[in-house]
Amino acid sequence: MTKLFISDLQGKDEVESIFLVKIFNTMEDKSGKKYFNLILTDSSGEIEARLWNYASEIENTITKNCFVKVRGKLNFYQGRKQFIINHIQKIDQTDVSIDDFVMKSVEDPEVMYKRLLKIVDSLSDVYIRDLLRSIITDGEIARRLKIWQAGKSIHHAYKSGLLEHILSCTELALVVSKHYRANENYVVAGCILHDLCKIYELTDGMNVEYTEEGKLVGHLVKGLEIVDRYSYKIKNFPHYMKMHLKHILLSHHGEFAYGSPKIPQTAEAYLVHLIDLMDSKMGTIEQVKKNDSTTGHWSGFVKHLDRIVYKSDLPYYPEYVQEEEFQERAEVKVALSPKPIQRNQPEPKTSLGKMLGNFKIED
Ligand SMILES: [Fe+2]
Ligand SMILES: [Fe+2]
Repeated sequence: MTKLFISDLQGKDEVESIFLVKIFNTMEDKSGKKYFNLILTDSSGEIEARLWNYASEIENTITKNCFVKVRGKLNFYQGRKQFIINHIQKIDQTDVSIDDFVMKSVEDPEVMYKRLLKIVDSLSDVYIRDLLRSIITDGEIARRLKIWQAGKSIHHAYKSGLLEHILSCTELALVVSKHYRANENYVVAGCILHDLCKIYELTDGMNVEYTEEGKLVGHLVKGLEIVDRYSYKIKNFPHYMKMHLKHILLSHHGEFAYGSPKIPQTAEAYLVHLIDLMDSKMGTIEQVKKNDSTTGHWSGFVKHLDRIVYKSDLPYYPEYVQEEEFQERAEVKVALSPKPIQRNQPEPKTSLGKMLGNFKIED
């Protein structure tokens, strides 16, 4: 059977394909009849799904993280895409091509890794350059860095997402350090090392979980261990430099409430925190724009960003446009404005509800 990807699902025709069950809940309607509430995924995204019929008969055969062959139709519920399943059947992992179900970075990990090494080699501080080189060229660290996710489900939560996030932060570090006249050696080191120990904090594969070390120690403190372990191998590694590197790692979450035992107290530590924050939020926005299944301009509520997101491209005019055309494009803006008030006439009492009465954002 040809695999039909979630991003290609559209129209009302009945379709059949294989998906991975990411979330699975058995619910009951008002009359006590059981139904399934699922999130199905593949490498192209995820979609909500419902099974209204015969749920109680197959309740024990479907589980979270199993592969299912489903037949059904696409539906739109409260502006969101939803897959209504008519038939569902669990299938064996050996019958699927795993690559079809693993979300991965659009960038080649080998290319990203080389770009990172090049930045390390360009650093002017010999100790920081040697330290970073010895850490990221360690065989096991390099292997994990190329494939690990940056998180379980929030930002850069896909294969090689950690390397993508680290490289993105590091490239930003070069630009921002110059702009604010901070020491780029430390900012680059912080951007490379701040989340590196997620390779010990999280498992790899399709169902990423926290490891025992992740739950008990975490990537901030584990980062200190790595700095100690590799700096001891470098002759005369300066003590004060190590202390400042450790401060950057410990403080990169920015606030006590987010797990940092210290808040950033150097310009370099503060920059690493801000770059990390920016890249994680922008990474989430990118994912929402790509994967959110709500129809129209707006996404559903995004918990990590605490807001809904405008998904469409913003108006852009490389050339002047004719007045009529401009008016047409500005339709929404005009519809929102109250009618101009004539001079010498009493101001009408217009409620906000009336003003917005005709306002409609078109899908
Ligand atoms: Fe972190
Ligand atoms: Fe990060």
